[in-house]
Amino acid sequence: MDHLLKLLDCTPEEIASILDLADQLKYERKHNIPHRHLEGKSVGLIFQKSSTRTRVSFETGIFQLGGQALFLSSRDLQIGRGEPVQDTARVLSRYLDGIMIRTYEQKEVEDLAKYGSVPVINGLTDFCHPCQVLADLMTIREKYGVLKGLKLCYIGDGNNMANSLIVGGLKAGMSVSIATPENYRPAKEVLDFAAGYDVFSLTEDPMKAAENADVVITDTWASMGQEDEKEIRMKAFQGYQVNDELMAAAKPGAMVQHCLPAYRGQEITEKMFEEHAAEIFEEAENRLHAQKAVMVTLMKK
Ligand code: CP
Ligand code: NVA
Repeated sequence: MDHLLKLLDCTPEEIASILDLADQLKYERKHNIPHRHLEGKSVGLIFQKSSTRTRVSFETGIFQLGGQALFLSSRDLQIGRGEPVQDTARVLSRYLDGIMIRTYEQKEVEDLAKYGSVPVINGLTDFCHPCQVLADLMTIREKYGVLKGLKLCYIGDGNNMANSLIVGGLKAGMSVSIATPENYRPAKEVLDFAAGYDVFSLTEDPMKAAENADVVITDTWASMGQEDEKEIRMKAFQGYQVNDELMAAAKPGAMVQHCLPAYRGQEITEKMFEEHAAEIFEEAENRLHAQKAVMVTLMKK
């Protein structure tokens, strides 16, 4: 594994080994066992969109591994003034040992990896959010002890989270059911991949998707970059809310996950959010451990 650009590129074994290492690093941090696997290494964090969790978990994560992070806002980089990604990649590769990038187009992340010579980690694009889904899988496995055979249900926008959950869930041996409005389906590339799995289903009916689910996941109805569509989206997603009624269709005691930030009263009710706050914030914490595992896997060479 040279990069983490999207989960479609990862084998089930690679995903499982990152999750195992993440569990180990979480244990070591809890017990103050040093794990400075990336002593003296630097990772650059390029952000073209806002972030709370991704930025802070990568910065502290590399520090705990003995390395350092450089926060690189695209507002300050020459890339924000039009310097080509091909040149940025070749320059940064001479200084850094790894690059994380959060941006709009998936192609930009792929190009960074293509033209650079250090590992590239996707910290969210419009297409996918692999780091988040590794943390989600870790959190679900912590609760149930396994992933294989569980039913993962996602309700809402067929966005970057939906795309990564479909691929990650199926590769982890879960059954995956998705409910989105007709015009907000997941990406074609992801649906083509999922078509090979008889444990995958896509519907417009949230109640049907939630039936017997072990874990119910949702995300904002308007992602970063879609601010102008907010009004039309609020209407399109009515009925796609994680609430009491929806959770009654899931298995008793089913888990709720949300990548955050959450919009209470929209994709999830205040009540459901607070009832499941412990597992949602565990999921947020696990970003740290999962990304440390990704950095060690890619950068400790
Ligand atoms: N879930 C997530 O990626 O959060 P941030 O946007 O705060 O990084
Ligand atoms: N789908 C959301 C996820 C935020 C972490 C977005 O892209 O804005």
